[in-house]
Amino acid sequence: MSGFDTTWLDLREPADGAARDAALLQGAVAWLARAGEAALAVDLGCGTGSTLRAVAPHAPKLRWRLVDNDPALLAEATRRLSAASDVETVQANLTDLDALDLAWIRLATASALFDLASRDFVEGLADRLVAEQAGLYAALNYDGNVAWSEAHPLDAAVVKAFNSHQRRDKGLGAALGPDAGPALVNAFAARGYDVRTASSPWALDARAVSLQRLFVAGMADAVAETGEITTPELADWQRMRMENVERGSCRVGHLDVLALPR
Ligand SMILES: C[S@@+](CC[C@H](N)C(=O)[O-])C[C@H]1O[C@@H](n2cnc3c(N)ncnc32)[C@H](O)[C@@H]1O
Repeated sequence: MSGFDTTWLDLREPADGAARDAALLQGAVAWLARAGEAALAVDLGCGTGSTLRAVAPHAPKLRWRLVDNDPALLAEATRRLSAASDVETVQANLTDLDALDLAWIRLATASALFDLASRDFVEGLADRLVAEQAGLYAALNYDGNVAWSEAHPLDAAVVKAFNSHQRRDKGLGAALGPDAGPALVNAFAARGYDVRTASSPWALDARAVSLQRLFVAGMADAVAETGEITTPELADWQRMRMENVERGSCRVGHLDVLALPR
């Protein structure tokens, strides 16, 4: 997947904000506070700056570096920053991990990124963060679980096919998809970090109709590409799901990970 648009990112930001585990966020903030004022945080795959907007109110004196390969999203992030913010934006492709400037950073952050990334990327990033003795706050890693309040007979098959699509290369190697959370835990625990995790599911109801619609449409498109479900069956599933967004609810599982040097 490439080309994340602001419509999708704007729709998911309130759901992400409600889903983020508060204790892990506070753990990241406490780690930054120990670094003193003006600690440097780097947000990887920043989009329009959702992670900054979630963290900065708790850590207002931070310096930020926002990294993304999409110039339009970086421009939008810049447009949304307050004049007082100490933030630089960097256009970079994370595939070139060696070229990424992580010197003196205290914390790397990311939201909804690592399910797009490969195991090699996670391992390489872990090495780079250990070298800096920097922490990682990685929120909203999709965990492979989607459930609706009203069942459709194809739900399990659709989620299975969607999860196999999630593992396709999204530009950072064979994607971890639902394995992102465990891969992060293993990589940082193996390097002696203190690793904490918490579930951070979306709980989408009638207040998130537009997000539900885009999510269902995106799922259906991805599943269609796998060819695992026939076109008429998938169309029936999508029709039922779209009809239900206002009266039903949907839970999408995520895992937040906080990994800090001991
Ligand atoms: C699902 S979006 C999440 C954006 C943002 N973190 C948020 O929570 O709203 C994934 C982001 O990763 C960026 N991204 C994906 N692959 C990338 C790569 N190879 N290098 C740099 N950024 C990348 C995308 O442009 C997008 O902004």
